[in-house]
Amino acid sequence: MADKDSSAFTWFALCDVDQLGERAIYHTELHGNELVVWRAEDGVVNVWENRCPHRGVRLSIGHHRGDALQCQYHGWQFGSGDGGCRFVPAHPDGAAPPVAVKTWPVQVRDGFVWTCLAQSDEAPPFVPLDELEDDRQQVRLRTVAIDACADDVQRALSAYCFDHADFDAWRTTDCVAFDLGAHAVLIEQLDDAAQRVVFLMQPARAGRTYLHGIALGAFAGEERLAVQRHHQQRLNALRDALEQQAARDEHLSCDRFADQPPPVMPHAQPSTQAVFLSPAMARAVSAEAACASGTIDHADEHAFTVHLARSDRTLSVPAGVSLLQTLREHRIDVPTSCEQGVCGTCRTRVLDGTPLHRDVFLTPQERAAGDCMMVCVSRACGAALTLDL
Ligand code: FES
Repeated sequence: MADKDSSAFTWFALCDVDQLGERAIYHTELHGNELVVWRAEDGVVNVWENRCPHRGVRLSIGHHRGDALQCQYHGWQFGSGDGGCRFVPAHPDGAAPPVAVKTWPVQVRDGFVWTCLAQSDEAPPFVPLDELEDDRQQVRLRTVAIDACADDVQRALSAYCFDHADFDAWRTTDCVAFDLGAHAVLIEQLDDAAQRVVFLMQPARAGRTYLHGIALGAFAGEERLAVQRHHQQRLNALRDALEQQAARDEHLSCDRFADQPPPVMPHAQPSTQAVFLSPAMARAVSAEAACASGTIDHADEHAFTVHLARSDRTLSVPAGVSLLQTLREHRIDVPTSCEQGVCGTCRTRVLDGTPLHRDVFLTPQERAAGDCMMVCVSRACGAALTLDL
């Protein structure tokens, strides 16, 4: 657990609340702690330690039961709110054991889910950022993962980004940066009040930061996508520059994490996930079960192109290479957890084209609608797709 004196004892943005779609279970990290974020059917957003208190399996690969999360291993269910165990399948008529998932305080503000690694009664008051509280429209950018420490990202953004040769994408405009504190930086373009971006830093773990971006202004219709695309491209350029700089400069270190305790769930390694899947689950996630329509022949898996509307890029996805793999190779970050089409974390909007669904998350109605897909396992029916990325 985080030290009271560390910067973990403050509020951090974790994810765009829109990523918590119906039944989605979102997996993220904060200061080396794995977290699972989910919204119950009554709208309550939960931020929990991503670990079943029974056998330590990640809850993010479990099932969303409306008002509870069910662990994939032995089926224990933990209720929204207090995280208390409510049901154990092996003892359907007995009382649930008095155990609970570790829960963290939650705030849902300005389109983001925030948390603080403190006990609820010890958490400092949540102080909203004034910049996000006014009535301008917000365009939220796709979160990027940066291989650099949050402090270094913040320092670069607020102190010298506009004097540094690596930041050409930003130097071309007349900008000024303000450190808003609480791991937030405002970038303002002086000649255009509409061009303001607030960055929120999420220190995921040593050497890894998630950077959330929000463009502020008055945007209408098509302009919204153009603004989103413009700032997303700059955000990607910023990430690349920061990573080059972090790799080059010795002073960009991660000393602040050196004395921190290890993550709270050292035994829940990715390699354990498949081991803990029940036989039914293993069947469910197999490609054969996911493609129940019988129309998919893996031997005939075809290449396709994917156009990313926000990034204004078109990528080729070869046969035998997953869409997620292709996105990663091109540094397009998509949040994932199970990467088996089960949890819904990677759910992505489809703007054009027909997806070839291979997940077990979407309902038949959602599949038929064809307006979203799980990029970890699904592909394109035709030659091309356009995604909201
Ligand atoms: S990461 Fe879980 S469905 Fe794609």
